[in-house]
Amino acid sequence: MILVTGAAGFIGANFVLDWLAQSQEPVVNLDKLTYAGNLETLASVQDDERHTFVQGDIGDTALVARLLAQHQPRAVINFAAESHVDRSIHSPEDFIQTNVVGTFRLLEAVRAYWGNLPAGDKAAFRLLHVSTDEVYGSLGAGDAAFTEQHRYEPNSPYSASKAASDHLVRAYHHTYGLPVLTTNCSNNYGPYHFPEKLIPLMIVNALAGKPLPVYGDGMQVRDWLYVKDHCSAIRRVLEAGQLGEVYNIGGWNEKPNIEIVNTVCALLDELRPKADGSSYRTQISYVKDRPGHDRRYAIDASKIERELGWKPAETFDTGIRKTVQWYLAHPEWVANVQSGAYRDWLQTQYAGTVAA
Ligand code: NAD
Ligand code: DAU
Repeated sequence: MILVTGAAGFIGANFVLDWLAQSQEPVVNLDKLTYAGNLETLASVQDDERHTFVQGDIGDTALVARLLAQHQPRAVINFAAESHVDRSIHSPEDFIQTNVVGTFRLLEAVRAYWGNLPAGDKAAFRLLHVSTDEVYGSLGAGDAAFTEQHRYEPNSPYSASKAASDHLVRAYHHTYGLPVLTTNCSNNYGPYHFPEKLIPLMIVNALAGKPLPVYGDGMQVRDWLYVKDHCSAIRRVLEAGQLGEVYNIGGWNEKPNIEIVNTVCALLDELRPKADGSSYRTQISYVKDRPGHDRRYAIDASKIERELGWKPAETFDTGIRKTVQWYLAHPEWVANVQSGAYRDWLQTQYAGTVAA
């Protein structure tokens, strides 16, 4: 079986849903259930005996040690993190606690477990750490995309905390021989994305008739990848990645933010036209910029394509259409996030079945 951390969040939950759709191998899901953890996303596997949910912190060494001893995973995949840049600017403490201290404690627990495995299991074991392109800093308009050799230049408390966790993972490989893999991915989008991030925020605000806040001049560039493509890349790296190696993952799909917002508006105009016939674009509102806002990220994903044969399946056109359609088809998921009801899911739906 595999132990997956942070898998009640956006990418981790998509990963678990895709994993269980393709494999019989069980998953233990360790998640603290911060504001970003939403068990409603995993409702379809709630009664699936291949999925065990445990509420807990990656920084709880005793809990992680107990889970490792009890379930004997062949791999640990670490998604758990504080992930929102704006929150890291307002309150960085949680980012240091989870992304730095939490990752350190997880590494210590995994090192102790791995060190005592029988030789065959020890050789087969993997720790895959999920990270971000933001650790590389910001690019100018004409700069080449980030390769795995690009120096680390994190600019926000979020990216600095992720950079620290990447360095710890690297150090545990070089110092202790821990069999690690690290992935650095660009901006994900798709189903179950918490509506504090750009694309889901624009969809839910547009439908609610609220302003669509675009930071600064809206010309910041991100590379966008459909979340299921990120999940397939992680499965591929877990399966065939070289120990100690880093793999950049991206969609070859750079776009300025304002273009993303205009695309979302155009899709909503087509799929859910407003009663008065006006475009959702009329709700766009330019607001004060994010402090220290990185201007451009771009991922060179040629290593993972060349060495592991991975390529994204979705183009931005197909992925963003699926995403908008998903939000239109799941108003109850959005409503439960907005009302806060999703935070009661554990008590109301999971009573007695959580393996804490
Ligand atoms: P998310 O915020 O949606 O989910 C994070 C999950 O981790 C939540 O379920 C939360 O409850 C859990 N968590 C937080 N602190 C924890 C702790 N101390 N112990 C256990 N669980 C904890 O984040 P996401 O967007 O799904 O991102 C997942 C990972 O992928 C993160 O490591 C992030 O840095 C990385 N990443 C995200 C993106 C993106 O575009 N979203 C891109 C590249 C990399
Ligand atoms: O690049 C990967 C990273 O992508 C991940 O590591 C992070 O976990 C993830 O949150 C994401 O970070 P960003 O800061 O790029 O994502 P966000 O959706 O917050 O913002 C995307 C861009 O849109 C960014 O340039 C800021 C801008 N923005 C964002 C919001 C929420 C706006 O203009 N208006 C908004 O309301």
